[in-house]
Amino acid sequence: MNAREIAKGIKVISTVHWERRLFDSLIPLPDGTSYNAYLIQGSKGTALVDTTDPELKHELLDQLESVEHIDYLVTQHSEQDHSGTIPDVLARYPKAKLVCSSKAKDLVLTHLDVAPERIRVVEDGEEISLGDKTLQFVYTPWVHWPETMCTYIPQDKCLLSCDFFGSHVATSDMYVTNKELVYEAAKRYFAEIMMPFRNMIRRNLDKLSGLEIDVIAPSHGPVYNEPDFIVDAYKDWVSPSMKNEVVLPYITMHGSTEMMVKYLVNSLADRGVTTHLFDLSVTDIGKLAISLVDAATLVVGTPTVHIGPHPGVFYAAHLANMLRPKLKYAAIVGSYGWSSKAIEQISGLIPNLKVDVLGTILQKGAPTEDTYKQLDELAEKIANAHKEDELVTTE
Ligand code: FEO
Repeated sequence: MNAREIAKGIKVISTVHWERRLFDSLIPLPDGTSYNAYLIQGSKGTALVDTTDPELKHELLDQLESVEHIDYLVTQHSEQDHSGTIPDVLARYPKAKLVCSSKAKDLVLTHLDVAPERIRVVEDGEEISLGDKTLQFVYTPWVHWPETMCTYIPQDKCLLSCDFFGSHVATSDMYVTNKELVYEAAKRYFAEIMMPFRNMIRRNLDKLSGLEIDVIAPSHGPVYNEPDFIVDAYKDWVSPSMKNEVVLPYITMHGSTEMMVKYLVNSLADRGVTTHLFDLSVTDIGKLAISLVDAATLVVGTPTVHIGPHPGVFYAAHLANMLRPKLKYAAIVGSYGWSSKAIEQISGLIPNLKVDVLGTILQKGAPTEDTYKQLDELAEKIANAHKEDELVTTE
């Protein structure tokens, strides 16, 4: 996209990756993504904050064609999608200094081979003056790497937040226009990338609450000119409160596990509990991550393959363990032909989840009347636990 002004002297240069469908060979991108760099032109100096993914470097460099001089290239986060074009920008502007946090210096040296004499490390709270604009650096560690920082421009009450508050959305809109789309994309982004660092993010939100902010300009997705929209969403996602919801990823091979989990979904619904059911053989793993942001209970459903759980269930259990959602309760249900260690193996995969296990049901062959009775009992336990915790149902 052409560079566009979000405030006088501050331009967003958004390179839009419309067709990208996978990030880090891991994260689905159903709506593509964008990488935003910001050009700040003050009365006595010019800075570029972040760059773009190397695949789109020419789009950024084309937009910089008319910019004769850059004094500072700020890197807020060293992941390649923002830092990968740093060597090209530094080559074009040989007098520019690369500005980074103290923890980023090592990453910049090892990942990008930047000459040490071109690097200027800034400390938390340090400022660089561009004349009538000031860059104030705010360390925001673990959103989502240890070196991450934001840049605040007090004259415009503008916060450049990099991944923090970002959304993987390919859009030609400069500001948020479709709130529903951006909310979903930002929640997906939070779930997949930020959720393991929930407690650190809460501290960083507290830290930022001391700043007057009119505009939040992230490095993915549209700019927020109503910052409360995304700040309130983040406050909700990092809060300890959970919802009256169950997340139930499962796989079935010959139908027994599917009969069990679908019966359980009905039994939970009869008791007022919402279930998000995911057939792992076809599911978008990002949707599963989103549902883990709010849910109180995880139930895993698996058939038995060579004694253990289905490999797809291994993957989902490992993912849930890695994302460290709030979850308070868990259960495992499944089936087998002649022998199974599926429950023990799944339990061993989720040590990060500090959950009370409310039940395990392992059925030999097709479910029977007794299996359905056990599933009703499990649903009752889950519903009662949610009631005792006074969890609310999603509206
Ligand atoms: Fe958008 Fe962590 O990179």
